[in-house]
Amino acid sequence: MSHHTHPHASASYRAVWDRSQADRAAFWLDAAKAVDWIVPPSDAIEERSETEWRWFPGGKINVSANALDRHVDAGRGENTALIYDSAMTGTRASISYSELRDRVARFAGALRAQGVEAGDRVLIYLPMTPEAVTAMLACARIGAIHSVVFGGFAASELAVRIQDAKPKVIVTSSGGMEPGRAVEYLPLVKRALDICGGTESGVEAVIVRNRDTVPGSAADYASDPHARWVDWEGAQQGVTPADPVPLPSDHPLYILYTSGTTGNPKGVVRDSGGYAVGLSWAMRGIYDFGPGDTIFTASDVGWVVGHSFIVYGPLLAGGTTVLYEGKPVGTPDAGAFWRILSSYGAKILSTAPTALRAIKREDPELLELQKYDTSSLKAVYLAGERMDPETWHWVNDGLGVPVVDHWWQTETGWPICANPLGIEPLESKAGSTTVPMPGFDVRIVDSKGTDITAPGVEGNIAIKLPLAPGALLGIWGSEERFVSSYLQAFPGYYASGDAGHFDEDGYLFVMGRTDDVINVAGHRLSTGSLEEVLTMHPAVAECAVIGVHDELKGQHAAGFVALKHGVEVHREELAAELIRLVREHVGPVASFRDVTIVERLPKTRSGKILRKTIRQIVDGEPYKIPATIEDPAVIDALIVALGRTVHAPATTQVKIPVG
Ligand code: COA
Ligand code: AMP
Repeated sequence: MSHHTHPHASASYRAVWDRSQADRAAFWLDAAKAVDWIVPPSDAIEERSETEWRWFPGGKINVSANALDRHVDAGRGENTALIYDSAMTGTRASISYSELRDRVARFAGALRAQGVEAGDRVLIYLPMTPEAVTAMLACARIGAIHSVVFGGFAASELAVRIQDAKPKVIVTSSGGMEPGRAVEYLPLVKRALDICGGTESGVEAVIVRNRDTVPGSAADYASDPHARWVDWEGAQQGVTPADPVPLPSDHPLYILYTSGTTGNPKGVVRDSGGYAVGLSWAMRGIYDFGPGDTIFTASDVGWVVGHSFIVYGPLLAGGTTVLYEGKPVGTPDAGAFWRILSSYGAKILSTAPTALRAIKREDPELLELQKYDTSSLKAVYLAGERMDPETWHWVNDGLGVPVVDHWWQTETGWPICANPLGIEPLESKAGSTTVPMPGFDVRIVDSKGTDITAPGVEGNIAIKLPLAPGALLGIWGSEERFVSSYLQAFPGYYASGDAGHFDEDGYLFVMGRTDDVINVAGHRLSTGSLEEVLTMHPAVAECAVIGVHDELKGQHAAGFVALKHGVEVHREELAAELIRLVREHVGPVASFRDVTIVERLPKTRSGKILRKTIRQIVDGEPYKIPATIEDPAVIDALIVALGRTVHAPATTQVKIPVG
């Protein structure tokens, strides 16, 4: 099939969306034809109750076979599946569909040889190298449930995920490469296993891939009494490559942890059939992407963007995906993205607004862009955080291609709102994420859950149940937590945690979170978990962490700490200790560098910390001191203290030469 013809070619967006609602079963059974079923589903959806549903009951599928074997069998084995480009080591590699299928089958065999069976969990802690993709698809091949953990998390965050997912095997590497430093993974894995109590962790084997740029290997841990440490190559020697296993449509493909309001991350559970169908629809309808097309998604496999639009989406669609290890700037310059687009003829760039702001700061005139032929680029997609209109205009004018700001979450797996370029390109509006996608009936509700959707009316963004195929089926290990986190606040709806409004054209504007989740450089963090860490310090009586405006990263976490009575400290030293503590317990990804020490935190008479007021003061917004404040003088003291906020310098960035 040529990628220029597709099922929606003549349809209008409105007609497509309406049909997804009015004739839901027919719509999704139709969409389900885009993937190969081992046993076709008997129906589109089985609604078990108000809060429980399953997509494509009776269907049996293998997502790895759909991402790889299907294309090889269709004669596209020599097409490039994966391009690996590392700005950190200078490595460039191109892997065909048949080669990737063979690698995946072999590694799946290696997992089996370590005792991994369908339903077992495998934790993947790998940097942006092809092994990450291989390991994910190998799990999918044999029905093992993978859980990828981002490299920027600390050992204790890794430990929390091990304790929750209880993986039988961990697949890791000697480490990742950040500008100016190598991040050694093995000591982190070892520490995480120790935190989990060694053998108690349930982890039987750790498979380690050596990188010559980062020290450490399985052999260093040969004497670990708790787990077998096996070398990546050694683990694959003499194994029988594994064939794809038929799995029920609702078999969990992966668990992906994301921040909630508490310190304990939520393990979002993704199904197989619904995800394959939802994503396949998105690749066509939203990205207009298929065989012969190349997509460059600048994110990390540790995030949902990486799962859906570096790995599964592009490969399900039979196109070429670029796996880039590097940054938008500094590795070595602000032309990195343009170099990649032109080297590989990419049609789509997908990234977080932060990355573009970083480029804009470094190269506002886009001089680097002129060095490359980026004429293959057809559209830029942005997600992960709110796109500020100023940067939107800068990209739109500078690149001269449509800029699609699309809104989605780890939970939904693919965009809830977007500009469906594959159906009907709609006019884009700065600050808006355009319109709801099929299967997502988006409403604005008030705090009682009453539907107040109307042009210009601001409120909680909620989605009518059931959610589209591909969205989460639950939270790992706790049915109750799924309901209490998302389905209880507004009965009959999924509570997105975001607030916003529609305009008169039905365009959605997402304005910000309604909970304690903040977005730092497109990374989702819970302020609650940062507060938990700050209160570990013996000098801290209480604290508040809030997300404040950040020119580059959208938001950053600012910590306000009140000391225990009578404690004498050196401000700079305490701040440095707190910053170190967060880095050690949450990880560098928190980017925590901003500490203000106060006498007391502003509170209401009932003891509630006035976070919103603090944020407004820090952001320089007009604020009103609530009448319920316990002591207005605390606000004056806070303003004085802000003048003494300790901003720790960013670690020096050393440029790594490319080549
Ligand atoms: N492993 C280990 N550490 C990591 C890491 C990883 N995979 N990724 C990031 N870090 C570290 C960084 O080195 C940095 O450490 P530092 O405090 O020692 O400098 C810290 O975590 C913060 O990372 P981040 O906020 O991502 O900033 P950055 O310095 O790596 O890059 C920009 C910042 C400006 C380049 C930013 O524009 C960017 O591109 N960020 C990533 C956006 C993104 O992909 N978001 C994902 C959602 S789609
Ligand atoms: P994550 O689960 O890490 O992808 O984070 C999801 C959250 O990021 C959403 O709930 C929003 O708060 C925010 N977000 C994602 N995309 C957008 C967008 N296009 N505009 C505004 N906020 C967004």
